[in-house]
Amino acid sequence: MRKTCFIHVCVALLALLASGCSSGESVNVAKITSQPKAFVGSENCKTCHLEHYDSWKITNHSRMAQDVTKNKDAFIVDINHKVIMADFKKLEEKGKLKMPLDKIYFPKKDEIKYTLGNEWKQRYIVEKDGVLYISPIQFNTETGRWVNYHDNDWDKRPWLLKCGGCHTTGVKLDKNDPSKGTFSEPGVGCEACHGAGSWHAALPKTALFEKRETIINPAKLPRGTAVQICGSCHNRGKSTMQKGASWAVGYTPGKALEPFYVSTSYASGDKKHVYPNEFSKAHHQQYIDWLKSEHRREGVTCTSCHSVHELGMPATRFQTKAAGSASCLTCHKQQNSNMAHSIHSFANCVGCHMPRIAKSAESADIHSHVFKTLLPSETINNPENPNSCQTCHRHKDDNLVELQKRFEELASMPAPQGKVMQPVNVYK
Ligand code: HEC
Ligand code: HEC
Ligand code: HEC
Ligand code: HEC
Ligand code: HEC
Ligand code: HEC
Ligand code: HEC
Ligand code: HEC
Repeated sequence: MRKTCFIHVCVALLALLASGCSSGESVNVAKITSQPKAFVGSENCKTCHLEHYDSWKITNHSRMAQDVTKNKDAFIVDINHKVIMADFKKLEEKGKLKMPLDKIYFPKKDEIKYTLGNEWKQRYIVEKDGVLYISPIQFNTETGRWVNYHDNDWDKRPWLLKCGGCHTTGVKLDKNDPSKGTFSEPGVGCEACHGAGSWHAALPKTALFEKRETIINPAKLPRGTAVQICGSCHNRGKSTMQKGASWAVGYTPGKALEPFYVSTSYASGDKKHVYPNEFSKAHHQQYIDWLKSEHRREGVTCTSCHSVHELGMPATRFQTKAAGSASCLTCHKQQNSNMAHSIHSFANCVGCHMPRIAKSAESADIHSHVFKTLLPSETINNPENPNSCQTCHRHKDDNLVELQKRFEELASMPAPQGKVMQPVNVYK
């Protein structure tokens, strides 16, 4: 009796095992990979990579563009026309508007389809004749004021063509009318950095080798290739593939960026976004700056200093692996104590080596990523160039020539003066 029972259990177990196996085998790898590769969305990746999803969700990448029909809380400020109008009046008085105030289009809250951003500023997407446009109002978070944005030509600048690929994932522009198109999800989703994931997601977990083969892991690319993924968006320039597009149309993670995109420069005539010394004046140009740095030559890339997603990510601003200047000290154990280092009693590496000289919403709200200290002489030689020192020593009566002279005197003294600098970790 006992024996037959045992056999029965064994048979049942075997049957279970067999059915388990056959359900695995029924997934045909060749069939999956013969389909065109498509975008499946971050929600799909979540089902197997919950910890990556969770840590990505707390970064601004996941929040860049938000569908307000799905999330009303995406608005970081009320769309109150009286308040907006009052701020625009001030701009009009200063001559900052490109249109008479009463001719400017102010979107109503229920006309807004998507919000863009929340860190430095927020912009709003509206639809007109089936095309998505960036409406001409912008809210700046630091000052809490409204400013105009292309108030005169906003309806000639389609969002998907001008900005789409950097703020949403899986954009496909319409072949006949590139002002229109589709995207797989708003925001910078998993597949913006890992490539379209339909093959990878459809393969069974047991097909480990094929799973790895069908998705991009930036950590397994040569460093110079991996950093171009970040460079495809933290950049400014023109598409080589699509007329009128400002993002890298056709580029996908793992490819070389250059065939798809030409970055801007002062030398090419862009005085609006770059200083004469080719340091960035405008935002989303971290890659352009970094290309000029000693860090690039040494293989110190974006992900050496920033985590893009990681469980237990430190609570720093902008996902630096350590807070502010402490992140420099993880590699630079000791600085020489001559030059500017000997003059100052504090260790604000970021203050001098990553001065806030670029602009997103208000001037000087973005850090330089060349990592080079700009001395007063930089500005003395060309007043259009900024310097690091005046981000602190900025009193109007601070004489730059005097500051440079004092710097040279003090910096040439037989150092060291004082102790080796140690940063303060403000998060502890
Ligand atoms: C059905 C489950 C499943 C889904 C859905 C899934 N993955 Fe994976 N993923 C895996 C497994 C299993 C591995 C292999 C883990 C290992 O190598 O140990 C993996 C590995 C990876 C890797 C590392 C590859 C390597 O070579 O190291 C990346 C990157 C990745 N997945 C991204 C994604 C993205 C992006 C999505 C959504 C488009 C996604 N995954 C959806 C199961 C899944
Ligand atoms: C902004 C770019 C970016 C986005 C968005 C992004 N990743 Fe990654 N991911 C990376 C980079 C870079 C690495 C390599 C990390 C490293 O260098 O250590 C990576 C590594 C991974 C790995 C490999 C295992 C590991 O931890 O190293 C998995 C799995 C993964 N990502 C899944 C996801 C999923 C799922 C999402 C969306 C929820 C996502 N990623 C969104 C850039 C991104
Ligand atoms: C598809 C475009 C895209 C790619 C690829 C991309 N980024 Fe971003 N990144 C953005 C946008 C857009 C924002 C601004 C999001 C916001 O403020 O809402 C951003 C923000 C950031 C921030 C500030 C984050 C925060 O939460 O405040 C860091 C740091 C960053 N990116 C690093 C990286 C790194 C490192 C890579 C490469 C591994 C990368 N990004 C790849 C578009 C991209
Ligand atoms: C080449 C890629 C690229 C293009 C094109 C681009 N952006 Fe961005 N944008 C970024 C990145 C990266 C960031 C975040 C990093 C930064 O600002 O330095 C950003 C930041 C922003 C922010 C601020 C986000 C925040 O949280 O404060 C807004 C708003 C924005 N972009 C709107 C636009 C609009 C509107 C367009 C089109 C007219 C556009 N961008 C074109 C890459 C791009
Ligand atoms: C040597 C370290 C280092 C490297 C390399 C680096 N960053 Fe940063 N990044 C920082 C620090 C430090 C900050 C300022 C953090 C703070 O304010 O606390 C920052 C800020 C940022 C910000 C916020 C906006 C700003 O500029 O102030 C973005 C976006 C960003 N980095 C993207 C990138 C990208 C993309 C790359 C690669 C092209 C990169 N970073 C390379 C250290 C680095
Ligand atoms: C992942 C390691 C790493 C981190 C983090 C790092 N650096 Fe570096 N840095 C290097 C390496 C490697 C070099 C090149 C060799 C050298 O000079 O030590 C370098 C070079 C430099 C140089 C140029 C030296 C020269 O000879 O011209 C400066 C300046 C610099 N780093 C500043 C910083 C600052 C500021 C930070 C923090 C925002 C920082 N670094 C973070 C690794 C790092
Ligand atoms: C008061 C401004 C100032 C501060 C603060 C500052 N530096 Fe420097 N640093 C300079 C100047 C000026 C130079 C020489 C020009 C250059 O390379 O940018 C320099 C040079 C360097 C170099 C290359 C020369 C060398 O020592 O090998 C490194 C690396 C460096 N600094 C790292 C740091 C780190 C790390 C911190 C924070 C602990 C820091 N600096 C803080 C101004 C500063
Ligand atoms: C992060 C803010 C900050 C930056 C950036 C900065 N300084 Fe200073 N500087 C100070 C402060 C604060 C003092 C007062 C002394 C101290 O606390 O170390 C000072 C003092 C000085 C002194 C007077 C020292 C003395 O003994 O009288 C000189 C000269 C000087 N800085 C030159 C410079 C130069 C040149 C640069 C650019 C390379 C620069 N500083 C960048 C904040 C800054």
